[in-house]
Amino acid sequence: MTLATTTTGWTREKAAEVIAEHRNLDGPALPILHALQETFGHVPDDAVPLLAEALNLSRADVHGIISFYHDFRHAPAGRHVVKVCRAEACQSMGGHALAEGLLHRLGLQWGGTTGDGQVTIEPVYCLGLCATAPAALVDGRPVGRLNREKLDAVVNEVRNDWSHTGRVGA
Ligand code: FES
Repeated sequence: MTLATTTTGWTREKAAEVIAEHRNLDGPALPILHALQETFGHVPDDAVPLLAEALNLSRADVHGIISFYHDFRHAPAGRHVVKVCRAEACQSMGGHALAEGLLHRLGLQWGGTTGDGQVTIEPVYCLGLCATAPAALVDGRPVGRLNREKLDAVVNEVRNDWSHTGRVGA
């Protein structure tokens, strides 16, 4: 199974259209950023001045919003996205070491993508799966009670496009 996300290549016109669609909302910055990411798969740097101008903000303000919220990507994600929980319950169950170990083994920073373009590892802050901590979301599917072996298996499975099984262990 592949990530069911269809993204559009960057054009200034498309970005302007997305911004115009949402700019009259109350508190439009976040909806616009989400819409840009949904459209392009990330928030392109070239969209920052457009958004700043539309909302009468400085570029630094827009960069500040983007970096404050962990949901926004600066580059397109890999084919699959593994979101590893970094919130308290998961941390208390060893989530920190688990996640850092995974990043180390893959040679990635948070938000990074494997060299084969298959998997992006992102942080997330509570998935509502605290009872099964430490937990992750794999292409939108919850996976709990992670340990090193299970996390490695999940990542390897999605790198191989789910090994034709279409599922990961619960
Ligand atoms: S703290 Fe990780 S799922 Fe809630």
